[in-house]
Amino acid sequence: MHISVIGSGYVGTTVAACFADLGHEVTAIDIDEDIVNTLNEGKAPIDEPGLEDLLEQHVGNRLEATTSYDAVPESDVTFLAIGTPSNEDGSIDLTALEAAAEATGEALADKAERHLVVIKSTVTPTSIEQTLEPAVKRGANDNPNVEVGMNPEFLREGTAVEDFMHPDKVVYGTNSEWATDKLHEVFAPLLDQHDADIVETDPATASMIKYANNAFLASKISLVNDLGNICKEFGLDAYEVMDAVGLDDRISEQFLRSGVGWGGSCFPKDVNAIIAAARETGYDPALLEATVEINDRQPDRLLELLEDHVDPADARIAVLGLAFKPQTDDIRNSRAIPTIEKLQQRGAEVVAYDPVAADNMRERFPNIEYADSAADALEGADGAVVVTDWDEFAALDEEFDAMADPVVVDGRRIIQRRDGLTYEGLTW
Ligand code: UGA
Repeated sequence: MHISVIGSGYVGTTVAACFADLGHEVTAIDIDEDIVNTLNEGKAPIDEPGLEDLLEQHVGNRLEATTSYDAVPESDVTFLAIGTPSNEDGSIDLTALEAAAEATGEALADKAERHLVVIKSTVTPTSIEQTLEPAVKRGANDNPNVEVGMNPEFLREGTAVEDFMHPDKVVYGTNSEWATDKLHEVFAPLLDQHDADIVETDPATASMIKYANNAFLASKISLVNDLGNICKEFGLDAYEVMDAVGLDDRISEQFLRSGVGWGGSCFPKDVNAIIAAARETGYDPALLEATVEINDRQPDRLLELLEDHVDPADARIAVLGLAFKPQTDDIRNSRAIPTIEKLQQRGAEVVAYDPVAADNMRERFPNIEYADSAADALEGADGAVVVTDWDEFAALDEEFDAMADPVVVDGRRIIQRRDGLTYEGLTW
């Protein structure tokens, strides 16, 4: 099968490389020439384990990148994987995706065979019917051979290739049996080698499944954080409590790690977008609003615990971890951002360390100090807070002796307690 993939961001590139690995002929299309050139050299424009291996293997063979939409009509199915950022009010910004949808339609205006255009991007339940399908049709001059469907993705940053190849479920949101069959054809080589549930539904439900999935996971963490804060008030260990709670099959042991909260490019954007979409219908999504509020409050809790031991005004405070989670240099919506802002508001002198994300954070906070190691950050510091659970922080030990005042507030339960160190766990 020949598949075209519009957009070569983290989803588009992963999907294109994985489709090629499944034996499909793939054309990756992006308007950015630098990204296209990088891809055609067999290199990954993003840092994702396993991705470059797949590109090296398949570029020049089953996979090629281009800035031109010419390959769209030659392909059998087109996937649109364009970012859907947030507007100021948290609602979804469809501008770039709508433009790509219209350009895809234009490329298909004269196609004589049926062609399926699949939205891979995360979009609100009304986006396809009200905006994206009309854009494709407009571009295609209402060519009746062109159909639009939805296939949400559930990849995590850092394990995107692995997640693509071993999904729990694959969701086909279509308007016809023909389109469902096309998606079966696309995923058949994957489902032949890996057992996953297939969900067949309409495009709006498929869109909502993706939001419900992310909103559920973000809410699960916020609930665990709410319960964790209560545990802390009673002097209890939230991890001991949640380990037992997770033994209930209905709850599962995953996503029960309480701490300084969730960040990244997806949970914050998606939870806010579905809240905004719900409000537009006149519904007040009270629980999802609380999900965001609890997440926003966790950095305050972290600093309140610090203030129990150190006055941050004029104190030198080490911030360990800047990425939104370990194994990535992505700082988007990292809990480190509000943590640093709030430390600065309290008059602290911040020294930050992250094994890979410091350069990205430097753009956001050019005026704080960046240390080359955790040990350097801790040396002479009056206190430390831990925001990302990088494995290397678990090995920190006598480095704490070099602090002016050895106090650490751990937001991720990664630091080992030791004699001489004043240790506070955020929820334990
Ligand atoms: C998330 C979802 O997990 C994916 O299924 C989804 O496809 C993706 O968003 C997306 O919509 O594209 P991702 O943002 O890569 O993936 O990150 P996660 O590994 O889910 O972690 C999100 C945040 O939750 C991190 O800040 C992490 O530290 C935090 N977290 C996670 C906790 O605080 N506690 C936990 O128990 C688990």
